[in-house]
Amino acid sequence: MLKLDSLTIRYGKHLALDGVTVTVGAGECVALLGANGAGKSSLLKAVGGLVRKESGEVTLGHAVLSSLPAHRILTEGVALVPEGRGIFPRLSVEENLVLGANPARARKGEAAQRDQVFDLFPKLAERRRQIAGTMSGGEQQMVAIARALMSNPDYLLLDEPSLGLAPIVTKELFEVLGRIRQTGLSILLVEQNVRESLKLADRGYLLEAGRIVGQGPADQLAEDPAVQHAFLGGTTAEIN
Ligand SMILES: Nc1ncnc2c1ncn2[C@@H]1O[C@H](COP(=O)(O)OP(=O)(O)OP(=O)(O)O)[C@@H](O)[C@H]1O
Ligand SMILES: [Mg+2]
Repeated sequence: MLKLDSLTIRYGKHLALDGVTVTVGAGECVALLGANGAGKSSLLKAVGGLVRKESGEVTLGHAVLSSLPAHRILTEGVALVPEGRGIFPRLSVEENLVLGANPARARKGEAAQRDQVFDLFPKLAERRRQIAGTMSGGEQQMVAIARALMSNPDYLLLDEPSLGLAPIVTKELFEVLGRIRQTGLSILLVEQNVRESLKLADRGYLLEAGRIVGQGPADQLAEDPAVQHAFLGGTTAEIN
């Protein structure tokens, strides 16, 4: 199990996360909801080793991730797809994927992993020689997720993967996430598309100004008045 235990993060005087406790069980898909500036990206970055915590701990089983550098966290099986994707735009799709297979846990099974990734993203198989920077936003997001999968992770952290994508591309993206889920991977998902996220997820947390103010099974959260009011813009009847 991945566990954030009383995690506190501060940027100068600004308290971005204030004693946050979140768990993601093996095979679970967990959605993290929150308004702009709530601390969602900070939480994912803390797990990925990209920001230092002030106090608290992130653990995966017995491993204390919050004392490891980012590349070691990847080796422990936790891959982050950051907001804005972070792919290499001048490299081809295939070259991006090869770079994703860098951690030791991925190198041996690289070929099999690539087959599995191309299975999930047939379009990327067709476009394997295309320069990533020339692809559409949706395709680049797929490259970013595919590259993270090449590290053969147990936990996939996604920061707003549908940001800026057209509705039809977003739908495609969520279908792929559904298939990734079925492979048994654990997912921690930050999404502005709350409706789709809560359909995909088992559980969710509501983050407000750096604190967890709500949590529960995804279907219950979707009906929570606070969630409805803040993200779903209406009544329960509108969901689905
Ligand atoms: N490097 C930084 N230096 C200073 N403040 C930061 C830094 N990164 C984030 N913050 C601040 O911390 C708070 C939380 O930021 P964070 O990016 O985690 O929010 P978020 O929930 O991901 O927001 P969004 O929905 O806009 O992506 C914000 O007030 C932000 O301005
Ligand atoms: Mg963010």
